[in-house]
Amino acid sequence: MTDRARAIFDAVLPARLPDPVSFSAAAPSNIALSKYWGKRDAGLNLPLNSSLSISLAEWGTTTRVEPARDGTDAVWLNGARLAPETGFARKVVAFADRFRRGQTLPLHVRTENTIPTAAGLASSASGFAALTRALAGSFGLDLADDTLSMLARFGSGSATRSLWHGFARWERGTREDGTDSFARPLPEVWPEFRIAIVRVDTGPKSQSSRDGMGHTVATSPLFAGWPAQAEADCAAIEAAIEARDFIRLGEVTEANALGMHATMIAARPALAYLKPESWQVLDRLWAARRDGLEAYATMDAGANVKLVFLEGSTSRIAELFPDAAIVEPFGAAAKFPGQPRP
Ligand code: ADP
Ligand code: DP6
Ligand code: CO
Repeated sequence: MTDRARAIFDAVLPARLPDPVSFSAAAPSNIALSKYWGKRDAGLNLPLNSSLSISLAEWGTTTRVEPARDGTDAVWLNGARLAPETGFARKVVAFADRFRRGQTLPLHVRTENTIPTAAGLASSASGFAALTRALAGSFGLDLADDTLSMLARFGSGSATRSLWHGFARWERGTREDGTDSFARPLPEVWPEFRIAIVRVDTGPKSQSSRDGMGHTVATSPLFAGWPAQAEADCAAIEAAIEARDFIRLGEVTEANALGMHATMIAARPALAYLKPESWQVLDRLWAARRDGLEAYATMDAGANVKLVFLEGSTSRIAELFPDAAIVEPFGAAAKFPGQPRP
């Protein structure tokens, strides 16, 4: 941990943590409508631009943190105990270490993903948001949501936006120490809003989002234009949500995602998360749009395609993409204990 990161955790946590108790927390995954792609500071995990997302209701993570009676840290993913040297287990333990700051408080962490892990469906977002809430609960910390979001950022940037259901905006912030770089939920509830997840490849991606964005920033000649455009897209999408202007929201969302993928494709060597089948999905969508369908696509660091649309288009989407999972981000499943929104 860099000293700067340590200073942030020291400032918001008590000097000595109490003994942990068993505590379970859930967090939804989220899909960025306007993306985070590129860091201005890797040590503090600070983004170059703000981003805005919609959470995925029942798709996400539940994590239990409990005291390790056997005195040894251990991590389970979907019921299987992970070898301590796996990247997954090491990242979980390293994140717990940021809280523990040298104190000997061994933990068992049991996490369940209802989304595929590392497939471009934002498992790092729900994973670190749930882990942040679970660690805070286990150590009896009474932290404000702004602080939880800021701390989740050290696990994964997209996790800042996964502490709530509905829309969330991660403000890039301007302070050098990053204490103003966290997300907040937007107050707007849009019950008709729908997301379809069109699965192209749910296996783990060949390059993590972290490595992919680092490579793009370092080598893509198209990257220079990205941060300002993304900041403008973020503001445009927020305004479209406030105005309930779905077409504007969809147009900016799709253009933002394709712009991000253009920066990746121009990286040297090229970074291509999209597969031929992803493009086939886009072709089918665009053809349907010419016939009047109001649905728009977004893609993250993976081959899967997510469509945004309103309730009235559901049957048409289900006909076009019969295997797609349809998510109601403001539906009944978008409620976890202790998270009353919306
Ligand atoms: P994704 O598109 O799924 O977010 P990333 O490359 O950004 O892919 O992140 C995947 C990484 O996120 C995993 O390798 C793991 O380190 C972390 N992660 C995923 N699920 C969890 C979880 N439930 N708890 C903690 N960390 C998780
Ligand atoms: C394309 O949040 O996974 O999904 O901060 O390095 O963990 P790290 O990266 P991560 O990146 C997400 C990239 C994205 C866009 C987005 O979710 O905003
Ligand atoms: Co991720």
